[in-house]
Amino acid sequence: MRAVTPERFNKAQDAEKRLWDSIEESFILDHQKYYVKKSKYLANELLKYYKEKDICVLQVGCAADDIINHFLVKERHSIDPLADFYIKKFGKIINYKETNYIKGTGENLPYRDKMFDVVILANVLDHCKDPRRVMQETKRVLKDDGILYFECHFYQSSFLFLSKIYGLLKKVRGDLFNVCHPHMFLLNDLKKLISRYFLINREEKLGKDMEKNLENLRDIKKDLKKEKFTRRFPSYFGLLGVINYTCFCEKKIL
Ligand SMILES: C[S@@+](CC[C@H](N)C(=O)[O-])C[C@H]1O[C@@H](n2cnc3c(N)ncnc32)[C@H](O)[C@@H]1O
Repeated sequence: MRAVTPERFNKAQDAEKRLWDSIEESFILDHQKYYVKKSKYLANELLKYYKEKDICVLQVGCAADDIINHFLVKERHSIDPLADFYIKKFGKIINYKETNYIKGTGENLPYRDKMFDVVILANVLDHCKDPRRVMQETKRVLKDDGILYFECHFYQSSFLFLSKIYGLLKKVRGDLFNVCHPHMFLLNDLKKLISRYFLINREEKLGKDMEKNLENLRDIKKDLKKEKFTRRFPSYFGLLGVINYTCFCEKKIL
């Protein structure tokens, strides 16, 4: 998985900024219940690893609002290349000071080695310039016994194949397909990349789709069955896209 050019990354960032610029404060406030729920889920899962909340947590690429803003732990840090923009636009409704929100990228994390007990990387790796470097940096700033909470979208192979053809057609017309996402992963490639740096010790292949109010894997499976034709049928032909992959990882120590 190669890094994309600075030009391609800048286009993704411009599109991301335009997208968030069109979002109203009321939407962010309404959406908070989703992140509150996610942060409770994560806190509960982390209890398996940590006995107290006396931990230091970093979220990379947290955009306007995310888990970190609702996570009740001793020390919180957050970073995003568009942090200044989010702080200016949503600073009245979200207290970014509490999470030490700064501008920067996952490829060059301005934190010391082994600083964090937990790093959260949710819905960000496919937005980055160099996913491999982001994973390397994440490993560097995580304590040896730290935990990475990871989420990213993946796509089935036929979906990717067709989107590459569609992408070429769009390029001929001077346009970009899926402009906010410089990378689109197959599940295997995603897992291979994670496994270069981390041990995946728990995963949920179908992800945690909390926006749909699904509490656990059983609910998600039930929900997919209901959507037999729209979701299941295309999956037999590898045509499903934007599937959330979630896992908890430990640092790989050689
Ligand atoms: C889709 S948003 C994530 C929103 C939020 N995490 C969620 O899931 O609702 C992706 C964010 O990743 C940020 N991002 C893009 N490239 C990045 C990089 N190289 N390092 C860190 N964050 C990056 C973008 O600026 C954007 O705010």
